[in-house]
Amino acid sequence: HPSNVQMEESSILGRTNCRAKGGAPGFKVAILGAAGGIGQPLAMLMKMNPLVSVLHLYDVVNAPGVTADISHMDTGAVVRGFLGQPQLESALAGMDLVIIPAGVPRKPGMTRDDLFNINAGIVKTLCEGIAKCCPNAIVNLISNPVNSTVPIAAEVFKKAGTYDPKRLLGVTMLDVVRANTFVAEVLGLDPREVDVPVVGGHSGVTILPLLSQVKPPCSFTPEETEYLTKRIQDGGTEVVQAKAGAGSATLSMAYAAVKFADTCLRGLRGDAGIVECAFVASQVTELPFFASKVRLGRTGAEEVYQLGPLNEYERVGLEKAKNELAGSIQKGISFIKK
Ligand code: NAD
Ligand code: LMR
Repeated sequence: HPSNVQMEESSILGRTNCRAKGGAPGFKVAILGAAGGIGQPLAMLMKMNPLVSVLHLYDVVNAPGVTADISHMDTGAVVRGFLGQPQLESALAGMDLVIIPAGVPRKPGMTRDDLFNINAGIVKTLCEGIAKCCPNAIVNLISNPVNSTVPIAAEVFKKAGTYDPKRLLGVTMLDVVRANTFVAEVLGLDPREVDVPVVGGHSGVTILPLLSQVKPPCSFTPEETEYLTKRIQDGGTEVVQAKAGAGSATLSMAYAAVKFADTCLRGLRGDAGIVECAFVASQVTELPFFASKVRLGRTGAEEVYQLGPLNEYERVGLEKAKNELAGSIQKGISFIKK
C-alpha cells in the first residue's frame, strides 16, 4: 500500500507547514520523457490521478517549464522536475511506478523498427538508472519499438541483477483503446461498453485483435473482420500519416498510458480483478515475450493469461505475429548482450 506519508517541514514567508511529503497518501510516479508529445498530456493526466502523491517529471529538455506549468494544477500530487542526465537518479529515487515515453517518434514512411537505433540506447540508459535507484518500481515502457525495447529493458535489469519479469510491462493499451473504438463504431455501441483483447506485440502484424472474444459477445462477417483487423494494426500509421511529419499518436497515447498506469496503481494498492493487456515476459507461446491479458496486483503482472480459443483467421494471424516478433525480440536481446 502507499508508503510515502513522511512528514516534511516547509516554510513560505515565515509560515511553517508540516505537510505530508507527497500531499495525500498515494504512489510516487516518474515520467521519463515528460516534456514530449506524449509526456506532457500524460503528466497532466497523472497530476489529476488521485492515486498519485508525488509526480517526478524528467526530460533532457524543457522539464522545468512543463513542471512549473503542471505544478499549478490544484490536485493532490506534488510535482517535481528533473532536467538532464545528472538529475536522472534524483528523479528515480524511491519511485513506485516509472512510465517511459522517451525517444523519437515515427515520420511517414518509417516503421517502428526504424526507431531502434536511437531509442534502444535511450531505453538502455534510463533502465540502468531504474536498476540503480528504484529496482522495485513497476515499469511501463512506451518507447518504440516496444517489441524490442521491452527485451532491452529486461536484459539491462538482468545484468544489474534486479530483473523481476512481473514488474516490466510494455504498454500495448493503445491497441486495445483503438480496437474498442473501431469495433464499437462497427457495432453501433458506446466504446465504453466494448472490450477487445489485443495480443501479440505492438507493430503491424504482431498486433493481433481477438475479435472472436469481443465483449459483449458478437459476430463479424469476414469483411468486417478483415477491415477491423487491418484498421487496428494500422492505427498508428493512420495517425502518423495524418500528422504528416509532425509525429505520431500523442493524445490518444497519453490517454491509454494513464488508463494503463491507473490499472497498475490499483493493482499495487491491492484491488482485486485488475486485468489488462500488456507485452510481458510470457510462457503463453514459445516466445519469451508476448502481449496478452495479465492480472495486475501488488507485485505487478501476477498472472499472464492464456489466449483462449482462437478461430482460423486468428490462428493464421498468430503465426504471422510470432514470426515477426521472434526477430524483434532477438534484436533487443542482442543489443545488450553484444
Ligand atoms: P516526442 O519526440 O514528442 O517526445 C519524446 C521526448 O523524449 C522528448 O521530450 C525528448 O526530449 C525526450 N527524450 C529524448 N531522449 C531522452 C532521454 N535520453 N531521456 C529522457 N527523455 C528523452 O515523441 P512522442 O510522440 O512523445 O513519442 C515518444 C515515443 O513513444 C516514441 O518512441 C513513439 O514511437 C512512442 N509511442 C509508443 C506508443 C505505444 O503504443 N507504445 C504510442 C505512441 C508513441
Ligand atoms: C502508435 O501505435 O500510435 C505508436 O506505436 C506510434 C507509431 O509509431 O505508430
